[in-house]
Amino acid sequence: MDPTPLPPHPVRGQRRRLLVAGNWKMNGSLAGVQALAAAIADGAVARLDRVQLVLFPPFTYLPEAQRRLGASGMAWGAQNVSGHEDGAFTGEVSAQMLREFGCACVLVGHSERRTLFGENDAVVARKFLAVRQAGMTPVLCVGESLPEREQGATEDVVARQLQAVLDLAGASAFADAVVAYEPVWAIGTGKTATPAQAQDVHAFIRGRLAEADPAIAASLHVLYGGSMKRANARELLAMPDIDGGLLGGASLNVDEFMAVAITAQRLAQENT
Ligand code: 13P
Repeated sequence: MDPTPLPPHPVRGQRRRLLVAGNWKMNGSLAGVQALAAAIADGAVARLDRVQLVLFPPFTYLPEAQRRLGASGMAWGAQNVSGHEDGAFTGEVSAQMLREFGCACVLVGHSERRTLFGENDAVVARKFLAVRQAGMTPVLCVGESLPEREQGATEDVVARQLQAVLDLAGASAFADAVVAYEPVWAIGTGKTATPAQAQDVHAFIRGRLAEADPAIAASLHVLYGGSMKRANARELLAMPDIDGGLLGGASLNVDEFMAVAITAQRLAQENT
């Protein structure tokens, strides 16, 4: 089955379609996928016509996501991928394999991969390219740690993370890609970047890409991730350069996840 395509990306100042994505990390269950599918089976996703929902469950649940979400309009993707096409890489999963399970997109460079599993910028860039070459949408995660923010190095870190991908894949590889800004200090901590802090970095990311290709930068989806939930989604999503959210903990609760999606839908309607 071909991947469920993500929607055409918005052009700034025109109709905005927000992405609301759930990264389950190493959480959830088969029953959890089924519960989410049941919750959206009543046409909920069709009513959210200004929002694209995406689920990133663990690898083992992707076949169930494909079975249960296939007709719903909700897309699904993987949390990680190998940068290699195939071969003797025990324990790895290739982009082509993910494509066979209908993945529309794949997270690359999540901060947990970078910090806990030693993925450096070069590895992340190879993964980005592998996803792109397999015809899926890479979701490139970038963000600074707390010491980096305190040293005033946020922009340097994000610029370096972006540049590694630009150098390997070129600006054109960002044509329908997604960047997720996830400040490491806000992930799983309950601390959220303020809307102004997030907006500043999102605008910076768009600006960096604009230096390479203004049209691609204008239509890039830049998601915010880091303790986003029902209670703070509205103020974050209202910012001009925040095109959606990548939720961790809050995505494990169907009601909470759908509440964020409904908030996004309302905002998109108000901004028409
Ligand atoms: P939390 O929403 O749990 O902070 O996680 C964010 C995240 O890492 C999403 O990829």
